[in-house]
Amino acid sequence: MNKRIHVRRWLLVFVGAWLVWAVALAGPEQDRQAFVEYFQQRFPQVPMSEYANGVYAIDEDARAQWREIEEFPPYEFALEEGENAWKKGPGGGTTYAACFQADPADIRPHYPAFDARAGQVETLETALNRCRLEQGAEALAYDSEEMIALTAYLAYLSRGRPLQVAVPQDEPRALAAYESGKQFYYSKRGQLNFSCYDCHVISAGQYVRADRLGPSLGQPTHFPVYRSKLGQVISLHQRFHGCVRDVRAKPFELQGEEFRNLEYFLTYMSNGLEINGPGARK
Ligand code: HEC
Repeated sequence: MNKRIHVRRWLLVFVGAWLVWAVALAGPEQDRQAFVEYFQQRFPQVPMSEYANGVYAIDEDARAQWREIEEFPPYEFALEEGENAWKKGPGGGTTYAACFQADPADIRPHYPAFDARAGQVETLETALNRCRLEQGAEALAYDSEEMIALTAYLAYLSRGRPLQVAVPQDEPRALAAYESGKQFYYSKRGQLNFSCYDCHVISAGQYVRADRLGPSLGQPTHFPVYRSKLGQVISLHQRFHGCVRDVRAKPFELQGEEFRNLEYFLTYMSNGLEINGPGARK
């Protein structure tokens, strides 16, 4: 054999093996590590657990005001309402706990999850509604007080437990949903042509008008969130909706496929951080 061809063949084998190795390593877990490392280098003084506090992890002045607000938590009414709704159940003489077949304190950490039967991402909200529909009850509107109160209650029960979202390795559809959420996150949109990444990674810590931009890492830990500005508790998707509207882009449906996949990606990035919802924000 010609010596040069021989060398070239070995080079190809080598490059091929390297590619297989790189592809095997790439994926959600590698993404998450890179995401975390970025913020750790960017804000070396901020301990990991602090990211669960959103923008207050990096804004001292706003943090003091927030601490004061938390002394009389403005979301308390939602916890009471959520507990009542949980006890009332989905109808049909059964309980929500029976649908989830889990300790109620261990439900929130695993959402969103990939639902292999439906072939799509299930969030806590769509899981609650599925439970209701299976009992012949009506689905709750995703911006209804009852739905948000239920999620506030479940978040509260899970306080202190780490997020543990799974993208199953043996389920290509789960990986595809994760990838589409990731793509949404990095895509520029709207008249302002901004991506989530532009504001909540690259510009984290900077101001847009009167608001300081918080890091994306840790955002899902504290939802739903009481907004003083609105005087109500809102879901993570309502917050997504607000950020998409602010860049003057076309709106997406609450709990539609785009936002569910986005939540899947974003929450996976925060795996390991402790749930501290519901939260309170300006
Ligand atoms: C033009 C800048 C901008 C863009 C683009 C943007 N946001 Fe925001 N977002 C903000 C501001 C300002 C706030 C309020 C301050 C904060 O908490 O970061 C905010 C808050 C949030 C919060 C609430 C954080 C908390 O702790 O309560 C979430 C979640 C969020 N954004 C997600 C997103 C996602 C997902 C995208 C992409 C679809 C996005 N944002 C795009 C400016 C932006």
